[in-house]
Amino acid sequence: MRIAVIGTGYVGLSTGVCLAEIGHHVICIDTSEEKITLLRGGKSPIYEPGMEELLTKNMEAKRLQFTTSHREGLEKSEVIIVAVGTPQQDSGEADLTYLFQAIQDAAPYIEKGSIIVIKSTVPVGTNEKVKRLLEAFGQNKVSPFVVSNPEFLRQGSAVLDTLNPDRIVIGCENKEPAAVIEKMYAPLNAKVVKTDARSAEMIKYASNAFLATKISFINNIGNLCEAVGANVEDVSKGMGLDQRIGAAFLQSGIGYGGSCFPKDVSALLAAAKEYHVPFSMIEETMMINNRQKLLLVKKALNRFGDLKHKKIAVLGFAFKPETDDMREAPSITIIHSLLNEGASVIGYDPVATRNAKGIFGEKIAYATSVGEAIKESDAVFIVTEWKEIKQLVLSEVISQMKQPIVFDGRNSFSEEAVRDCEEIEYYPIGKPAIIIRKS
Ligand code: UDX
Repeated sequence: MRIAVIGTGYVGLSTGVCLAEIGHHVICIDTSEEKITLLRGGKSPIYEPGMEELLTKNMEAKRLQFTTSHREGLEKSEVIIVAVGTPQQDSGEADLTYLFQAIQDAAPYIEKGSIIVIKSTVPVGTNEKVKRLLEAFGQNKVSPFVVSNPEFLRQGSAVLDTLNPDRIVIGCENKEPAAVIEKMYAPLNAKVVKTDARSAEMIKYASNAFLATKISFINNIGNLCEAVGANVEDVSKGMGLDQRIGAAFLQSGIGYGGSCFPKDVSALLAAAKEYHVPFSMIEETMMINNRQKLLLVKKALNRFGDLKHKKIAVLGFAFKPETDDMREAPSITIIHSLLNEGASVIGYDPVATRNAKGIFGEKIAYATSVGEAIKESDAVFIVTEWKEIKQLVLSEVISQMKQPIVFDGRNSFSEEAVRDCEEIEYYPIGKPAIIIRKS
């Protein structure tokens, strides 16, 4: 099949590269010359495991191309996938400016019979608006076939998730285009859910809001575990083995971040308000998450009284491992709060430091290794559970600190690893602290 993908962000690029990998001819379009030049050179603008290998492989196989020209990209394309960003507005609603602009830019070049696939996360009813826009700008030669096809990939495993999806959702009232899209994905052997466009749009929001709620729920259970002296990891295990609950997304931590959960939860709430459907549970999910991001600072304040002139080493800037993305990352709230409390901060992240510099500038120091970050520090905050951080030998690392005090927001170390230390104050999430004094 000949496929065009508009937008080369996480979703667009992963989709384009993976559709080429399963044998289609794909051309990716982006208005950014800089991105397209980079991609043509086989370089990915985003950090994503496996991406550059597949990029190079499929470009060499002549199945994958990149262009800034809508004319070049759209002529002869049977399927046009739109995967541009739909960021959050101040009101919480999704901002559809990029989507509608992309549709307007594309409309004059769309061939008759092409199918427009909306992959961007969009509020319920948007596919219908896109259809009307196409009719208005497409000079009557445009097919009104618009298919909602939300994406569920996770950053950091975007390629893997795109090639092994749990399900493919196809939302279209018309059977023919839906069948074409099903065929396009056939090599993935995934379960397919065919429905109307509005339900497909809702599946995306409902899924992300449900997962975010699951995280907030377990985070609150974790806080309660700490208070009553239980262990949230065992509680998660005990709950997760119930197939009706499931083990995934029951890891208690310092709150969810990233480009999807916060934005999609807000957008669902905005829709509930617009349609006057009470959904205070979603507000609670958001409130718990905002509180959770401040948990490590709260614990440090309890321990030290105040944080003035304390040197805090923050390990991890990214909102989760295997990505350099810092959108809505707990590290942002944590570091700003530490600075407000008068602490000095030195941070380390294996890949997100460049993005962190754009956010914190000169306000904090940046280390190029864990060792450099924790040297002479009063406490360590573990914020992102990078493998490199989880594999540290705690007993060796803490010997370089001024005081061996660790606030672990991701429960990165086993009890044995902590008990190997001669002296430590270890504060995990949702389970008892371990305090070992030098005898
Ligand atoms: C998410 C959805 O998983 C994906 O389906 C959707 O398409 C986009 O949004 P992503 O944001 O890339 O993907 O990351 P994910 O791995 O889902 O993690 C989101 C956040 O939740 C991270 O901040 C992570 O640390 C946190 N999280 C996840 C927890 O705190 N506990 C968990 O058990 C799982």
